[in-house]
Amino acid sequence: MYFCVLICNAMNYFNNKTIWITGASSGIGRECAVQLSRMPQVSLILSARSVEKLQELHAECVHNGARCEILPLDLEQTDTLAEKTQQAIALFGKIDIFINNGGISQRSLAQETPIENDRKIMEIDYFSGVIITKALLPHMIERKSGHIVAVSSISGCFGFPQRTAYCAAKHAMYGYFEALDIEMRAHAVAVTIVSPGRIQTNISYSALTKDGTAHGKMDEGQASGMSVQVFVKQMLTAISRKKHEILIGRKEVLMVYIYRVFPKIFHIIAGKIKAT
Ligand SMILES: NC(=O)c1ccc[n+]([C@@H]2O[C@H](COP(=O)([O-])OP(=O)(O)OC[C@H]3O[C@@H](n4cnc5c(N)ncnc54)[C@H](OP(=O)(O)O)[C@@H]3O)[C@@H](O)[C@H]2O)c1
Repeated sequence: MYFCVLICNAMNYFNNKTIWITGASSGIGRECAVQLSRMPQVSLILSARSVEKLQELHAECVHNGARCEILPLDLEQTDTLAEKTQQAIALFGKIDIFINNGGISQRSLAQETPIENDRKIMEIDYFSGVIITKALLPHMIERKSGHIVAVSSISGCFGFPQRTAYCAAKHAMYGYFEALDIEMRAHAVAVTIVSPGRIQTNISYSALTKDGTAHGKMDEGQASGMSVQVFVKQMLTAISRKKHEILIGRKEVLMVYIYRVFPKIFHIIAGKIKAT
């Protein structure tokens, strides 16, 4: 009964909203689109680089009853993103919710990672979201309404080996969107930071290795993570309640609490982590 009320409230929140999702071609972004497309009178804008995957998803969302457009973009091409934002607003005349989700991970030690890789990860995982958000804010502030959802990571809460650049980008994201949340309270624009633990998606396949190629395999930790369907259900419920911060995952999210409350214990445990 309680669960039913939660789902209904979530559906009400998204009713009549236009929602722009980056990273919509796969994993968390794709599942957000699918679950949102089943809610009444939702308009979706789907972005990523893989046009064919976006077209397939578009057909599924329209079949589920949503109004839907695709807006292909490359988050690394940061000089195109302000213009892409204006195109996104023009598609349905407004953006109510921006799910800043597209991103890549990393699998390489700091000393073997060329600085070009660090910059690439910062551009895709951090600067792209900041540029789009800056371009959206005048629109949301003028309407005194809007919701920015930043998909960070538990790697934005503490360090993890073979993820120096990824952790840096997600920590930067965390700081930026937390500060933005406080600034935006005067304008009735909500900000939610989502920090997933390990979720079963393709994120480890596309993770950047030291030579700039994709890792190309499913890591053990990833494979045993939370299902993306369960994760997204919880994420959308938290967004509908305008939560400031949400941590979702399995036992790995406990590390965030241990880090915050018992930092010395965290460092003992972290020293034993097998990096994958
Ligand atoms: N899965 C996890 O365990 C986990 C944990 C913590 C945080 N996260 C975060 O969750 C978000 C979504 O990841 P996921 O797990 O759903 O991974 P995923 O299945 O690999 O999806 C990543 C998405 O990002 C898009 N993307 C990557 N590079 C891009 C670029 N240069 N330009 C435009 N789009 C790009 C991909 O689309 P194209 O390749 O088509 O461009 C894809 O749609 C990421 O920000 C990730 O850091 C995931």
